[in-house]
Parts: sequence; structure tokens; C-alpha cells
Amino acid sequence: MLGRLNHVALAVPDLAAATAAYRDTLGAQLSEPQALPEHGVTVVFVDVGNTKIELLEPLGDASPIAAFLARNPSGGMHHVCYEVDDILAARDHLKASGARVLGDGNPKIGAHGKPVLFLHPKDFFGTLVELEQA
Ligand code: CO
Repeated sequence: MLGRLNHVALAVPDLAAATAAYRDTLGAQLSEPQALPEHGVTVVFVDVGNTKIELLEPLGDASPIAAFLARNPSGGMHHVCYEVDDILAARDHLKASGARVLGDGNPKIGAHGKPVLFLHPKDFFGTLVELEQA
């Protein structure tokens, strides 16, 4: 079921500072910032060849990463995203296996224009897992 690592997401308190650090200090190739109001984040993608790093800054009052940044004020690893061939089949398999799918259980369109789901971190050893339709 599990496919490639699509990205690792890092929550950051200051996207401009994080962008400058990745671009100027690390010499990385970055996307333009993309506001995703329905996900409560602004995102910049860092292309690292074999995968992507997603830099996430809170957007709006009810950002899902606000609590994470309150606990980790300098930022940190927020989630990992794996690709799956069939996100609805993956969801049904996971639910039947006892894993908790966050939200209403229906995929939302993610930052790459593809359906995504998030799995409860307590079911996967403390790491929030995103699944993206390949
Ligand atoms: Co993500």
C-alpha cells in the first residue's frame, strides 16, 4: 500500500526566515509561497531531488499547526507524507485495521492538487502521517 516518500513537512514560525535559510544558507531550490486557507497554512516547497521538504507557516486563526508551534516555538518536524495508489482503498484498509483517520475521513485536496488524508500520530508512534494519492 505504502509508496514513495512525497515530502517531509517542517512547521516554522517565520516562513520568510526559513525560506532565506534554505535558499541562502543551504543553497536549495524553493517554490514561491502558496497560501492554502482551507488547510490553515502557507507553504514553500524545497526541492531536494529525491523528495521535497515542505515549510509550513500558520495562516489564519484556526491553523492546525498553531498548537504544534506553541509547543515547539522554534519549529520542528510536523509530518511525513507517503504516496498511495488508491487513497480510498488505503483509508478503508487503515480504518479496518484500527488506525484513526483525522477529520471526517474524506480526503481533502492538498498542496499538490491531489487528495490527502492525515492519520492520528498516536497510531504511528508519535509521527503525524499524511497520505497523498499518487
Ligand atoms: Co504535507
